[in-house]
Amino acid sequence: MSQFHPVVDSTTVFRRDIFKNKVLFCTGGGSGICRVMTEAVLRHGANAAIVGRNEERLKRAAQELSAATGNACLPVKADVRDPIQVQDAVKITIKRYGRIDFVINGAAGNFLAPISGLSENGFRTVIEIDALGTYHTIKATLPYVRASKGSYVHVSATLHYRGTPYQVHVSAAKAAVDATSAVLAVEEGPHGIRSNVIAPGLIAGTEGEERLSSKDPTGQKNWYLPTGRKGDSRDVANAAVFLFSDAASYISGQVLVVDGASEHLRGPMLPYPESVLDPESTKGLIKARM
Ligand code: COA
Repeated sequence: MSQFHPVVDSTTVFRRDIFKNKVLFCTGGGSGICRVMTEAVLRHGANAAIVGRNEERLKRAAQELSAATGNACLPVKADVRDPIQVQDAVKITIKRYGRIDFVINGAAGNFLAPISGLSENGFRTVIEIDALGTYHTIKATLPYVRASKGSYVHVSATLHYRGTPYQVHVSAAKAAVDATSAVLAVEEGPHGIRSNVIAPGLIAGTEGEERLSSKDPTGQKNWYLPTGRKGDSRDVANAAVFLFSDAASYISGQVLVVDGASEHLRGPMLPYPESVLDPESTKGLIKARM
C-alpha cells in the first residue's frame, strides 16, 4: 500500500530557486524535524540561522547543512525561554544576513508524565519552551518579517485535539501555539505576513516515536496508518516548503496536519485505563521517566 504514498524530495516538486535571497530563522533547527525542515528550505536557495541551547550540536548541524545544500547556515545559541537571548539571536542573524523572511517556531520540550506526577515546575517548563518561546520569537522577529512581508510556520502537534494521557503540559502548550498563530495571522495579515501551523503526527525516527510507538502486550494497536506508512521528517519539511512558497499565498491562519490521516483513527496510544491506573505496568512500553 505504501508504494502509493512515497516520501518525496520537495526539490522534485518545487523549483530549486524559489527561496533565493530569502533568510530563514529556525528555533530548534539543530536537530530532529526542524533540522530537516531547515535543510529543505536551504535546498530551495535560502540562507538560514538555526537557534538552540546546545552550541556544539548547532555548530555541527550548521556545518553539515551548509555542506549538503551549498547555502549559508548560521548557528546561534539561545534559549527561547529568555526573550533577551532571542532578541540577541535575531540581532546576530540580521547582522549576518540583513533580513528575515521565514520563521520556524520549532523549539519544544516533551516527556511523558501524568498530572498526578508532574510538578508545577515541570508543567511550567514546557509551557515556557513551547508557548512563551514561540511568543518571544514572534516578538523579536516581527519587525523584520513585516519588512520582508514574510511568513511564519509554527510546529505544533495533534495531541491536544483529544485528551492524551501523560501529555497535559504539551497539550496546553501546543493549544496556545495554535491560538497564537491564528491571532498573528489576523493581526499581521494586513501587514503582508502569513502565519500557519504544521501539526505532525507519528514521524519515524523522532523522539516522539521512540517514546510512544509501544508494543502493547495486550495486542491493542495504538497507531493506525491509513497511508500504509509512518510519517517521515521530509513529509513535514515538504509542508513547510509549500507554506513558505508563493503557492500558499492565500493560506494563512491554518493548521496543516501532516499525519497521513492517522488522527482520524488515533486511540490513547498507551493501554487504557491500565496506563493511568497502574503506570508501573506500562513503564516498559515507554522510554521516559514517569
Ligand atoms: N517527568 C517528569 N518531570 C520531568 C521530566 C520527566 N520525564 N523531565 C523533566 N521534568 C521536570 C523536572 O523534574 C523539573 O521539575 P522540578 O524542578 O519540579 O523537578 C522540570 O521538569 C524542569 O526540568 P529540567 O530538566 O530541569 O529542565 P530543562 O530546562 O533542563 O529541560 C526539557 C527541559 C523538557 C527540555 C527536558 O526535560 C528534556 O530534555 N526533555 C526531553 C527532550 C525533549 O524534550 N526534546 C524535544 C522533543 S519534542
